[in-house]
Amino acid sequence: MKKIVINGNFGIENLEIQEQESDNVLPHEIQIKLSAASLNYRDLLMVKGEYNPRQKLPLVPCSDGAGTVTAVGSAVSRFRIGDRVMPVFAQTWQAGSPTLNEIRSTLGGPLDGTLRQNICVPEYSAVKIPAHLSFNEAATLPCAALTAWSALFEYGNLQAGQSVLILGTGGVSVFALQFAKLAGAKTIITSSSSEKLQMMQKLGADHIINYNEKKDWGKEVRKLTGNVGVDYVIEVGGAGTLEQSIRSVRVDGTISLIGILAGRAPELNLLPVLMQNVRIQGILVGSRRAFENMNDAIEMNKLTPLVDRVFPFEEHKEAFLYLQSQKHMGKVVIAIPD
Ligand SMILES: NC(=O)c1ccc[n+]([C@@H]2O[C@H](COP(=O)([O-])OP(=O)(O)OC[C@H]3O[C@@H](n4cnc5c(N)ncnc54)[C@H](OP(=O)(O)O)[C@@H]3O)[C@@H](O)[C@H]2O)c1
Repeated sequence: MKKIVINGNFGIENLEIQEQESDNVLPHEIQIKLSAASLNYRDLLMVKGEYNPRQKLPLVPCSDGAGTVTAVGSAVSRFRIGDRVMPVFAQTWQAGSPTLNEIRSTLGGPLDGTLRQNICVPEYSAVKIPAHLSFNEAATLPCAALTAWSALFEYGNLQAGQSVLILGTGGVSVFALQFAKLAGAKTIITSSSSEKLQMMQKLGADHIINYNEKKDWGKEVRKLTGNVGVDYVIEVGGAGTLEQSIRSVRVDGTISLIGILAGRAPELNLLPVLMQNVRIQGILVGSRRAFENMNDAIEMNKLTPLVDRVFPFEEHKEAFLYLQSQKHMGKVVIAIPD
């Protein structure tokens, strides 16, 4: 059996394939033969040593995977051998508000992640795959999809007819677009690329804005909403985009603060946040219960994740470089061989 590890030093170039010893399955654990893993921006930062420079190495990167239960411990009741499952991102966060320990129980750092052929997890730290999805598709759900879901439906309360502004066309953002359309919301999506925006229209985006061509995109959003602003913003840029997001949101609207893609901002005027009753809600992926809620909606609506490219296991470095290039739309997946 094989695993991929960040070994000795951080850096994509230092990733290496190693032999994986088989673990003993403890009474409350299931063993999963993983068939696919997907990459998140977080995994890229982790591999490069930019997420947590103090992370202990070696580390198996990636939080997201999908596979088949191959063994169950003597006390397991939730799963059987042969079930198709995904491990939960924050392994011990079951439902409700998390504790600090629960939000630190994440795969792909500090815990060893999913870029390996075999993983053992407690039975309460895995969920079933929606029946219509392949392993490659299911491997995209645990972090990116759940983050978008939590923002709109667990912390948010998106209603049909409301409006959502989505920044960029990466993993979290494309799921946010798909979920917002499921809910009957009006969607506005931004991108650096007009070609990507055309694809987003095919996925149902109602309005598109090229943020490279329209630097003052908050103004465009206001025009598109009759100068009212949107109900929700899926804010994956962070400090570098927050000012425009604040311009885009309506009075009493919500900005879900999710990512840090746009770097730092020199100075930020926060006055409109208080003058307009804006909620800024930090989001950290979600609980197992939220994951199950989302999977029910995905299965009921036969939603299919947008998988941009699938790389073979041996081409894991190319997969990380591809994610880093930001040429993708939606998700980048690594297939794990039997
Ligand atoms: N808080 C959480 O729980 C959580 C969970 C998942 C992810 N995140 C964070 O959310 C962010 C997105 O993660 P991801 O995995 O979806 O990333 P990803 O797939 O790597 O997304 C990359 C895309 O983001 C877009 N982008 C880059 N800079 C942008 C900017 N200045 N303005 C608007 N869009 C920009 C680009 O889309 P275009 O090419 O279309 O411009 C790029 O292709 C990351 O910062 C990640 O760390 C947080």
